[in-house]
Parts: sequence; structure tokens; C-alpha cells
Amino acid sequence: MHHPRELLQLATDLALEAGALLAERQPQVRDFVGTKSSPTDMVTEVDTASERLIVERVLSARPDDGVVAEEGSRREGSSGVRWLIDPVDGTTNFLYGFPAYAVSIAAEAAGETLAGVVYNPATRELFAAAKGHGATLNGSRIRVSAETELAKALVATGFGYDPTVRARQGATLARLIGGIRDIRRAGSAALDLCNVACGRVDAYYEQGLNPWDHAAGALIAREAGGLTEFLEGPGFAKPCIVAGTPGVFAAFRELLIAAASA
Ligand code: IPD
Ligand code: CA
Ligand code: CA
Repeated sequence: MHHPRELLQLATDLALEAGALLAERQPQVRDFVGTKSSPTDMVTEVDTASERLIVERVLSARPDDGVVAEEGSRREGSSGVRWLIDPVDGTTNFLYGFPAYAVSIAAEAAGETLAGVVYNPATRELFAAAKGHGATLNGSRIRVSAETELAKALVATGFGYDPTVRARQGATLARLIGGIRDIRRAGSAALDLCNVACGRVDAYYEQGLNPWDHAAGALIAREAGGLTEFLEGPGFAKPCIVAGTPGVFAAFRELLIAAASA
């Protein structure tokens, strides 16, 4: 048996610890930067240091668990529990000191996310959820918005690092923006999903995320009463996550599919 609340406690401790490291190192971070898949896809020493800290602590507390983390840590476990870790989600914001970056940690078993934490050290906001136990922001229960009209929906999205993919994402956005209230591009997929969870936006979509980007945030959004789905098929080169409050989810999903396949 894996207890979601025990996994959540460990995830919370580690996210706070890694978050403190991010806060301490942020002012000097521009001196230690390299790039990954494209000139806009950046990695810093802090991404690696944060990942090392989290992975070491997970494995010392739960040596039989598996790990998949963005900066390369991979470990097959034998316990059935696997940790999905993004040591800094929103690296571009982190570099610029734009206060929307987070540590994202999720624990899953049998393909289901059991616990998830997203911690933004710049705002000291800790979003958390254990499956079946609801979602919280700094310990208080959160819920998705009560919006029911698509035309009034505030929608978050994000763009990949590949310029050709971005151009396609921009074209889809241009086709759907007339049908909603407005768009937000905050720069952290994990926080975008948490913003759905606490009603700061009504929906969110993005193509081509990795499991460490969305696992924790998507659980938090669902536990706050939101719906999540991965869209595939014509119009989507890669699976596209869509999350939203139930009042606009179906209508937004339809608009998005039409905009992507036009
Ligand atoms: C990125 C952020 C961004 C999203 C990208 C992600 P990173 O993660 O979540 O908001 O649009 O798709 O790759 O690189 O900052 O960890
Ligand atoms: Ca990420
Ligand atoms: Ca990252």
C-alpha cells in the first residue's frame, strides 16, 4: 500500500528545501547558464543542484522507489512508486527574476498520480494535493473557478522551445483568442495548472509537455474540482494537455480542437 498523504508529506518537505535553494541562488543565476535543445531552452547550475538535492533525499527516505527527473536522473525502482521531478519549472522566469517559477514534485503508482506539490519560492506559495484528499494553497483548500461562459474564460497557455512548433502554437492561439476573454502566458506549466486549481484562470492548454511538467499540477487541478485531458489526433503534433473548470471545459476543448485543426 502506498499512502498518498505520506508521499505528499515527503514531496512537501523536499519542495520547500529545494525552493529555499532556488531563492538563495536566484540573484546570481545569470552567471551560470547553458542551453539544451535550442538557444531559448536554458539550464542553470541551480536546476542541477535542485534536482540532485531532491533525488538524494527521495532515495534516502524511500530507497526502493523509481525516479524520473528533467535534468537526467533516472532510476528504476522496485516499490511501484515513481517520482516525477522538475527541479525548476519556469527556468526562463527564474533567470530573469520574473516571480513565476516553481519546484514540481509528483509521486505516482500504477500510472496514477497519488501526490503532487508545486512550490513557488518567489511568492512562497505551496500548492499541494493527495489523491482523494482535495487540493490546498499554503494549507487552505482551493477550488477551480465557477465560470460557465466560454466568452468570459481567461485561458493560460505555453509554448515549446522549438521555433517551428512555436509558430504552429501561435497560429492555433490566433484562431481561438477571439472566442475567450483573454490569454495569459506565465511561463511555468506547473504553476499554470495550479492557477486553474485556484481560479486565477479558467482553463489552460499546452502541447508537448513532459510528465515532470504536468504530473503534480494536473493532480492539484483535478483535486480542486477541475477536469484534465490529453488531446491527440489531427492538429496536434504532440499530445496537448487541456485543464479547466467544468463550467467551460467542454466548450473550450471544442474551440481548441477546431483552432488546432483549421
Ligand atoms: C517549461 C515551462 C513553460 C512551458 C514549457 C516547459 P522549463 O519548463 O513549463 O511554461 O511552456 O513547455 O518546457 O523548461 O522551464 O522547466
Ligand atoms: Ca518544466
Ligand atoms: Ca525545468
